[in-house]
Amino acid sequence: MPKEVKKQIIVTGIRPTGDLHIGNYLGAVKPLLQTIEKYPDAEIYIFVADLHGLTDNEAATVAKFRFEVVKDYLALGLDKYINTGRVHLFIQSQIGELVSYLSLFLSRYTTFNDLMRVPTLKEKLRANQTEGQANALLGYYPILMASDILIHNATIGPIGQDQLPHLEKTREFGAKFNAEFGEVFTLPQAHSVENLRILSLKGVGKMSKSHPEGALFLSDSEKLVKQKVSRAETATEGTISPNLESLLTIAKEFNVNTAEFLTDHMAGKQVAGLFKKELCERLADFVVNFQKKRATIADAEVMKIIIDGGRAARINATKTLDIVKNVMKFNYIK
Ligand code: TRP
Repeated sequence: MPKEVKKQIIVTGIRPTGDLHIGNYLGAVKPLLQTIEKYPDAEIYIFVADLHGLTDNEAATVAKFRFEVVKDYLALGLDKYINTGRVHLFIQSQIGELVSYLSLFLSRYTTFNDLMRVPTLKEKLRANQTEGQANALLGYYPILMASDILIHNATIGPIGQDQLPHLEKTREFGAKFNAEFGEVFTLPQAHSVENLRILSLKGVGKMSKSHPEGALFLSDSEKLVKQKVSRAETATEGTISPNLESLLTIAKEFNVNTAEFLTDHMAGKQVAGLFKKELCERLADFVVNFQKKRATIADAEVMKIIIDGGRAARINATKTLDIVKNVMKFNYIK
């Protein structure tokens, strides 16, 4: 029997953190671009999660970064897909009243205790030692995120393995709603890509904005990129360290040939300088090209893109929310 071919709908949210670095590019932006390529017929909703950003940022910071991050993503290659009509780029709060309204209905399907068990939240609570002090929006995070996804009837959920617990929660909310009111929501499948481990160039831990000396920002000057890469920690000849592994990961992603270097390095030869020199060139080229392209994208153009994207998102989200209200007999009294 021929299987019904259902149109794929992909939804993904971007955190509104300013100052993207190479770790963000390799871990989030590149996988997103690959996903768009992998599903040439899919409808794709991509948004900057500014409401989520309020969990641990000032409103003014989020308001500033949300446009910058849209521009960054466009300059990193998303621009190519905007005119296809199947990629809708917008800012979450453009449909804020729709997603937050749906999230309120969904919030009935979980408990405070269960929310606190979502791994990403547990980590945040532990890391900040704010247990008991975290604002309620942190606990609400999985509910809002489920709403972001379900409101577009996504068939495919977030990108990145770290987001899988959220996808599970989303499916749980959708399934519970469907059990109560009929088949309203599509339960999204995971499209998980491996999260690359890009470490700080200096010392331990992941590459992060909070340790700028070990992070390669896309806004760094050519000179600074070269300086940072040439001073990056590697490992003594004949040995491997997490820092070196991370550098190799970056190198591979930028098509630097690592095989010869590794063989020589493991044989005890001093070849790190040469290897880093090539990596410097590639990364500096990348950053310079990115900055050049970014400078050609006008603010008005960004605004037009998100207005169009927001409009498409609103049409789709309104449809779902209307169905939800109807099955709950909560449609407006007119
Ligand atoms: N939680 C995601 C992150 O940390 C951001 C996000 C918010 C998201 N809402 C989403 C991702 C909906 C996918 C779908 O990066």
